[in-house]
Amino acid sequence: MVKAIQVGLGAWGFSWSQDVIPKVPGIEMVGYVDANPAATERVQTELKVDPKLCFQSLAEAGKAVEADLVIATLRTEAHYPVVKEALQLGFNVIVEKPFASTMAQAKELVDLAEAQSRVLMVSQNYRFQPAPIAVAEFMAARKFGPINQVSVDFRRHAPTQGYRYWDMPDPLLADMSIHHFDLMRMVLNVDPVRVACRTWNPEGSPFAHHPTGAALIEFDSGIVVSYRASWVSTGSYTPWAGEWTIDCSEGEIWWTSRDHFMGKQKPDVVELRPMDGKAEKVKLAPIEFADRLGTLATIAKVVETGSLPPRFSSGKDNLLSLALVQATIASANRQGEWVDIAEVIK
Ligand SMILES: NC(=O)c1ccc[n+]([C@@H]2O[C@H](COP(=O)([O-])OP(=O)(O)OC[C@H]3O[C@@H](n4cnc5c(N)ncnc54)[C@H](O)[C@@H]3O)[C@@H](O)[C@H]2O)c1
Repeated sequence: MVKAIQVGLGAWGFSWSQDVIPKVPGIEMVGYVDANPAATERVQTELKVDPKLCFQSLAEAGKAVEADLVIATLRTEAHYPVVKEALQLGFNVIVEKPFASTMAQAKELVDLAEAQSRVLMVSQNYRFQPAPIAVAEFMAARKFGPINQVSVDFRRHAPTQGYRYWDMPDPLLADMSIHHFDLMRMVLNVDPVRVACRTWNPEGSPFAHHPTGAALIEFDSGIVVSYRASWVSTGSYTPWAGEWTIDCSEGEIWWTSRDHFMGKQKPDVVELRPMDGKAEKVKLAPIEFADRLGTLATIAKVVETGSLPPRFSSGKDNLLSLALVQATIASANRQGEWVDIAEVIK
């Protein structure tokens, strides 16, 4: 059993405690931490957690219990100090996306994990779905030959979907697009080279910062992705992973994933259409632990066995996904000027 302490029991953190952690075998919870006593009271009353396992800080929990793993499910600003403390205390760590607020913080945490010989994983849960896994395999096998171009569209209407973070800086690029950027790297198995991005805040939007944007993203091997995304779209919504078209020299792969909306879930979809042929739906293999269950089951196994699975989203791997966020933000701040990934990752 991997003994774990969860830190951060807010809105999303509580759903980890309630809906994710109990469904992953091999995890024994030895601590629940939140600076806000109302949050620890909630896990006690609603989830019947023993008050002896509840703490107001990680330092307190670290003194009272023995653990192998910290599950960091705090707001982004708190990731850096808490993950740093967890690694210094000798714990392995899984942290919610986005990894950290700045590249410097993320790099420091990666170096610290290495120095401490601990595993640091970013919970990029969108990787653990049937469609991106299947499409990554089609791309690796060059199903339809070389890529001509890739386009990704994301549309949601936050004002009617229980959204809460109206004042968050970069609500699109930092908080949402990180999933899409990370999937681009995973599915296409390429590294980003440079980006050009514009963002804006449409008239009447309740967001303080820009919820809408468009970007061109150039990867090594010359692949260019065009990306359009909006939190305030009144068009037909896309599943959370967006709608993807991968146009190759011999045909097209269309896919989408995480069609979760208002409590309903629809299956992932992948369609293959050879040039001039008919689109055919791919029968997708179910996966045992999907989404956040997948990230947690993976780190539990890595901590137990010490061996890393393919497409493991380590802190180190995640630096390039975070670099895409930082580069698109920098480009948007310069009215769409091209920004090299090397500039933000140096
Ligand atoms: N992967 C996804 O699909 C997805 C979806 C939603 C949210 N998230 C991520 O989940 C994370 C948490 O979001 P949330 O909505 O639960 O945030 P929240 O603000 O509701 O909760 C954060 C909690 O952390 C506690 N906290 C802050 N600093 C602390 C510290 N130093 N020690 C102990 N407790 C501390 C706060 O008291 C609060 O209860 C964010 O990083 C967000 O981006 C991911």
